Amino acid sequence: MAVKGKICVVFLLFAAVAFISASASFGMSENDEEIRVCKMMCEFSGEDDKPRCIKKCEEYHPEKQKREGEGGEGRGTGHGGSSDRRGGGGGSGDRQDIILAMEEQDVRKMVEQCHQSCQGSQGEQQRPQCFQTCMQKRFRDYERSRGHDTRTRRTDKRQQSNNPYVFKDQHFTARLETEHGNLRVLQKFTDRSDLFQGIEKYRFAYLVAEPQTFVIPNHWDADTLVFVANGKGTITLIEEDSRQSHNIKQGDLFWVPAGITEYLINTDNNERLVLAKIIHSVSVPGELQLFSVGGGDPESSFYNAFSTEVLEAAFDVDRDSLGRITGQQKQKQEQGMFKKATEEQIKSLAGKESRIWPFGERKEKGKGTYSIFKKDPSVANDNGILHEVDSGDFPDLRNINVAFSFFNITRGSMAGPFYNAKATQVLIVPNGVGWFEMACPHLSEQVTRSGQIRPSYEKVSSELRRGTVVVIPAGHPVVIEASGEDNLEVIGFGLKSDKNEWFPLAGRDNVLSQWEDEAIELTFGSPASEVKKVIEKQDQKLFFKGPVRRGRAFA
Ligand SMILES: *[C@@H]1O[C@H](CO)[C@@H](O)[C@H](O)[C@H]1NC(C)=O
Repeated sequence: MAVKGKICVVFLLFAAVAFISASASFGMSENDEEIRVCKMMCEFSGEDDKPRCIKKCEEYHPEKQKREGEGGEGRGTGHGGSSDRRGGGGGSGDRQDIILAMEEQDVRKMVEQCHQSCQGSQGEQQRPQCFQTCMQKRFRDYERSRGHDTRTRRTDKRQQSNNPYVFKDQHFTARLETEHGNLRVLQKFTDRSDLFQGIEKYRFAYLVAEPQTFVIPNHWDADTLVFVANGKGTITLIEEDSRQSHNIKQGDLFWVPAGITEYLINTDNNERLVLAKIIHSVSVPGELQLFSVGGGDPESSFYNAFSTEVLEAAFDVDRDSLGRITGQQKQKQEQGMFKKATEEQIKSLAGKESRIWPFGERKEKGKGTYSIFKKDPSVANDNGILHEVDSGDFPDLRNINVAFSFFNITRGSMAGPFYNAKATQVLIVPNGVGWFEMACPHLSEQVTRSGQIRPSYEKVSSELRRGTVVVIPAGHPVVIEASGEDNLEVIGFGLKSDKNEWFPLAGRDNVLSQWEDEAIELTFGSPASEVKKVIEKQDQKLFFKGPVRRGRAFA
């Protein structure tokens, strides 16, 4: 499948090159050419998105675009996570979310940016070539960021039509994407389904910083629990009377209280720093605001909301000097939230652990960071490892009412079935490919016409890939399965239960194994000894050898 896909891409690229050369020599206008290239690239976007992609290409007119730009057309989401771009006006559910995938902005922005970047220095001759190379790169990056090909997307659509539990790349509705890093915030859970009202105050976000990259100081109006899913770096928190720096590495948890300014540096030369964040809003449930000094970008500094006169008075400097922090002067430096740092800057910022300003020995508000590998795993066998952290281990978890778990499921193995007693578990896949199945009572008609309750359950399932987010409500039995190729790593944030209890439904210590013989006989209508042969056969705990799948394979 993957191989076939690649051949297809190569062929299309070749076709696009050939076409461009031809159209250039036939003297088509520059604008036409750009639209042609854009449409060609739509071939990569898959059957479902293709028509929309082509439409967006056709709608692109550089002149019109320029006019709209000057007319002050919306600045998009401003500073990324600062405000939400609601999926399709909200309320229309899954269909809209899927459409979001190839949204207007994506294609139009690509054409616009390539148009602009090729306009300057290039000679007339090179321009089509430049434009095409630029578009190829952007489409490829786009595909990579979505992380799945057209075939899986088509099956996803079927699975998702009645499956609000699974969130993929297109459900990250607030984004800030730059060369040196990106911040993506998942849509509000309640925008997806009313089933998630219990966790409406929580949001999920990813932050990725490329090697040797600095993330400029900012604060949220929300509490944040951060898990370092990959890489290492240094985080600095500015509190009322102190500055704390903590070195962080894969497997660390740390807590950033609402309103605390933080900055961050990826100190590694090769690895990306990837942070998975659970954010708990403190004012409007589920609404988040990011406050930033803008990093040399006048448009996205909160200082610029004030009148110049006010700032002159507040800082007691003149207008020109003010430009140093509001970014109105000509900046040599690149703009944005992510900045490339030099060797020396990194060395200095990385520094030593827990640097305290001004005189040290201040009572720290948080305990800093906690490595999930510090304690023995709660379950470990050949088929997988489960690390769990609750507020007993890391008291900061109590502030946000979240329990943490990390599953490392051996390839070809599975975890569960199990269920969580009180927590709604948000599962995130940082690495690997797999599958999950959940028993879900909401999707089937439970009450018969005569008003009798007759419970019945439907299987909710989906492929799991890097970046997939799944919500498992409390009480719902679930199985997580790794592909035969690689280990499947799964981060679990147990929301609204900092002491997460979970119950296995098969294997050692499973719920049934605790029942009295009479209860077993009355329930299943067979002699307890016979039933117990089934209940007690599997002697592994939680992690088992995976199923033999007939007619379906992963990856
Ligand atoms: C998961 O397990 C594999 C195999 O033992 C190991 O290589 C990998 O580092 C583990 N992942 C984490 C995050 O510990």
